[in-house]
Amino acid sequence: MNVNGKHYRTVWMEGSTVFMIDQTLLPFQFKIYEAKTYKDCCYAIKTMITRGAGAIGATAGFAMAQAFMEAPKTGIENFVQKAKKEIEKTRPTARNLFYAVDRVFEAGKISVENAINVAQKMADENIEEARLIGEYGNELIKHGFRIETHCNAGWLGFVDYGSALSPVYIAKEEGKSIFVYVDETRPRSQGARLTAWELKNESIPHAIIPDNAGAYYMSKGEIDMMIVGADRIAANGDVANKIGTLEKAIVAKEYGVPFYVAAPLSTFDMNCYSGAKIEIEQRNEDEVLYQTGPDEQGNLTKILVCNPGSKALNPAFDITPAKYISGIITEKGIVKPDTASIKKLYG
Ligand code: MRU
Repeated sequence: MNVNGKHYRTVWMEGSTVFMIDQTLLPFQFKIYEAKTYKDCCYAIKTMITRGAGAIGATAGFAMAQAFMEAPKTGIENFVQKAKKEIEKTRPTARNLFYAVDRVFEAGKISVENAINVAQKMADENIEEARLIGEYGNELIKHGFRIETHCNAGWLGFVDYGSALSPVYIAKEEGKSIFVYVDETRPRSQGARLTAWELKNESIPHAIIPDNAGAYYMSKGEIDMMIVGADRIAANGDVANKIGTLEKAIVAKEYGVPFYVAAPLSTFDMNCYSGAKIEIEQRNEDEVLYQTGPDEQGNLTKILVCNPGSKALNPAFDITPAKYISGIITEKGIVKPDTASIKKLYG
């Protein structure tokens, strides 16, 4: 996608440096973070400089390749094993992270060059899969549709295009008139900050709505469909995605609003038979208690927005049972969220 007329990927690797759009600064500042070592990439994933399942996967793959480049001539195996564990510990929920690390780790057993090539290939695949998700998802979108989305599953959450927003971008390319309701997505406000920034850049009509307004708009018949992304999908079609997804899905079913999940096959965890088995990341309470924005001079400032001294709880994801999901949009087509259909998709 373009920023100020220049094409960017969310994350890319040149030589041994991994570059990524710093998402902690958006939408107020546009800066590129440079990760010179795999440890820098770990830091970037942990602190959410880069975030979103697809972008985390690409970054983790590059980090694994960096580890092979950094390994000392003697003791390579110990070094890369330790690095692999460190990368895997950065965030627990997004399946793409583990998928990418495993693939590059296996590739690196052949040669360092092979690890680099596979990491680069995976970033290219990430874009192609997102584009195909967009094409399949676009078939569900009619001219004039009002679409609600949660969190950011746009190009910032992938290497390009995104998952949930990719159908929106393709629908726009085809000249369909669409309107997007953007859930603000507290506590980190990925909707209000990142999705809104992406949509504004692409001139797609949208409005940010408070997290608790979805039921109001659905009950008034103002939402034609909802599309969200996924961090991990169990073999039975249960979906882990950003906290708040579950309540939107329940409300959507109540009001007959089709509820779609968009994700590549690399997000499915076929070893996980139900959503109950998915680890939910618990993040720091400060993300709930404080908000960050620019002061009058444009410097980003953190301020307390809750009662001083109160504690906060901050689960980053929830599990939406398959029964609430109308379909999962993948790069191979739209699949019903049940074990048999998902297994068939895997061939
Ligand atoms: O905590 P985040 O911002 O990494 O969470 C992101 C989401 O939950 C997205 O909806 C998900 O990764 C889907 S695709 C980018």
